[in-house]
Amino acid sequence: MGEIQNIVILTGAGVSAESGIDTFRDAGGLWEQHRVEDVATPEGFARDPDLVLRFYDMRRAAIQAKQPNAAHHALARLDAEWPGELLIVTQNIDDLHERAGAKRLIHMHGEHLNAWCTGCDTRSPWTAPLIDRPACPACGVHGHLRPDVVWFGEMPYRMEEIYRAINRADLFVSIGTSGAVYPAAGFVREARASGARTLELNMEPSQGNHWFDEARQGAATWLVPEWVEEMLGG
Ligand code: APR
Repeated sequence: MGEIQNIVILTGAGVSAESGIDTFRDAGGLWEQHRVEDVATPEGFARDPDLVLRFYDMRRAAIQAKQPNAAHHALARLDAEWPGELLIVTQNIDDLHERAGAKRLIHMHGEHLNAWCTGCDTRSPWTAPLIDRPACPACGVHGHLRPDVVWFGEMPYRMEEIYRAINRADLFVSIGTSGAVYPAAGFVREARASGARTLELNMEPSQGNHWFDEARQGAATWLVPEWVEEMLGG
């Protein structure tokens, strides 16, 4: 690859799959077991808050038992050692990138281990269940805490920063995402428009596969360490 200074990496559920966290659209994935409309929309939450809170309580508990995998560790190493600009934009709400040591990271779909008080608008670190309507750590009011997760129809977080980074990127790499959900699925086209090279690392060709200059198929724990070695001249 030509002179590469600035890298943007988009990750999706495929990066956490080998840590034992279900993806959404693979066989047996989360959206096969639950209707998106019921558990991942503001309307679903308004209709049946207990169903939604239990869904996220179960997933919040599950991810705390999981460990980062070789793909998370390789990305954290690249983050630590890459001399140019680097940003990991994750669609995942688990904290495995952080636990592997990643620093330059944005959770565009929110974070499992945060709770958002719709009363005082404060986001607080949160690892416990929400079903029993605990008090907000900031304002003390019960019953206003919801998962700090971006639901369908809601605006993803820190999009300005993300587009600024993409517009400066020389290389855009998409890892473990199906390219089914916007705006993340459109990032590759933004990157191409700003002249970046584009690479997809995924178990199978994503829906946006044809937009990538290069695509490699395989497991993230195999493809990502190999790619990071290439980038660091290992
Ligand atoms: N290694 C690499 N890729 C994998 C692996 C693996 N071990 N396992 C699965 N994949 C790939 C699948 O082939 C698929 O293309 O990861 C992708 C997972 O796609 P999705 O399940 O759609 O997850 P994601 O793309 O992250 O979903 C995006 O949709 O439901 C919303 O908000 C949710 O953030 C999520 C968004």
